[in-house]
Amino acid sequence: MPAIALTVNGTPHGIDIDGRALLVDVLREGLGLTGTHVGCDTSQCGACTVHLDGRAVKACTVLAVQADGHEVLTIEGIGTAGALHPMQVAFREHHGLQCGFCTPGMIMAGLDIARRNGPSVGPEVVREELEGNLCRCTGYHNIVNAIMAGAQAMGGMQIVGGAPDADAPTVSAA
Ligand code: FES
Ligand code: FES
Repeated sequence: MPAIALTVNGTPHGIDIDGRALLVDVLREGLGLTGTHVGCDTSQCGACTVHLDGRAVKACTVLAVQADGHEVLTIEGIGTAGALHPMQVAFREHHGLQCGFCTPGMIMAGLDIARRNGPSVGPEVVREELEGNLCRCTGYHNIVNAIMAGAQAMGGMQIVGGAPDADAPTVSAA
């Protein structure tokens, strides 16, 4: 059984795993982080989206050993019930969910879209980039609006921590 070192939501963990274990299973079953969902296990639905070293990945397509020595951010790491992340606030305000099953993955994907495209990301880009995240309830319209509003509210700040993200695209005032 290999042992891996993972930093998850800022906390270092040493974990013994089966060499074939998927990252999503280690997060859910090993660490109890069940906010990351499993909708398909075949890389189609995006419910398992987390960030690996700052980039969105589908955790059902990553072996846990591939994450050894790396940083993982899950939905539990971006906000709390009393202090929601601006992207979570935007999903609530824009009714970007119904049953909520896809929501953690949508939010983690939305954060990556905001990081790469900046605060003024438009609906076409959001729709195109959400092609790997499926929702069976909402029809996507409110999710797209929520991600655009969340990106704007973040204003180029780092996903966690609040300081400006040096890599984030910015818009200059006209
Ligand atoms: S559970 Fe990973 S993409 Fe569906
Ligand atoms: S809100 Fe139900 S699957 Fe998206």
